Amino acid sequence: MIQIDERLKHIAFIMDGNGRWAQKLGKPRQYGHRFGVEALERVSRYCRDLGLETMTVYAFSTENWKRPQVEVDAIMKLLEQYITKMTRTLDDDRVCYRFIGDMSVLSPNLQKKIRVLEEASSVYEQTLNIALNYGGREEIVHCFHELIAEGKTQITEEDISRTLYTAHCPPPDLIVRTGGELRLSNFLMWQSAYAELYFTDVLWPDFAEQDIDAAITAFYSRKRRYGGVVSGS
Ligand code: IPE
Ligand code: IPE
Ligand code: MG
Repeated sequence: MIQIDERLKHIAFIMDGNGRWAQKLGKPRQYGHRFGVEALERVSRYCRDLGLETMTVYAFSTENWKRPQVEVDAIMKLLEQYITKMTRTLDDDRVCYRFIGDMSVLSPNLQKKIRVLEEASSVYEQTLNIALNYGGREEIVHCFHELIAEGKTQITEEDISRTLYTAHCPPPDLIVRTGGELRLSNFLMWQSAYAELYFTDVLWPDFAEQDIDAAITAFYSRKRRYGGVVSGS
């Protein structure tokens, strides 16, 4: 198993390629989402075992509602089943779940299940953020609304950071996108400012431990300068 250290506290994954994975097999897109959930379970278990402090996954974007209703319904059902399963196994998994995004438009039943899982798992330290009805722009607008409600007439970067959905965790050190597209698709727009980006053609349902090792190896080969200079370079 690859070793990580304090330089790598947070990995965020854009879980892309489920639909193409299914289409290659001649199956409907929903079939790919089903195996996408299995990949999520595999990846989150592995990141926990590596000792990673925070992992974030992009499960459903604010733009994904544009998809055919059957696909949206299938994804929501899979998410609900996933949440039920994680609630049952949380004392074996020992991970703290946090949902990020605008939950207010989800069904009341799903919102309740999310709250139950978040509360029941809150005793655990390693965090899995699940971005659901998440958009980086929506998140920043949400911050502004919070700050207006506080009566702010001037704001700082710190004000934005503390009102983000991810205020409880450090920004991602590494963002991994599967499925071959070279873009962020409205994911963690504020938090990604100095994240290292890693793109792979592997489709999400196929994504496995060795692919995470490859992403982490690439991360450790990068020189993070944050706009400064690194001695010796
Ligand atoms: C990512 O896979 C999962 C979600 C967006 C919910 P896609 O469904 O986008 O798969 P492709 O990109 O069409 O292959
Ligand atoms: C990004 O993937 C959203 C998730 C992985 C949940 P998309 O498949 O929606 O992104 P685009 O449309 O290719 O940019
Ligand atoms: Mg996609």
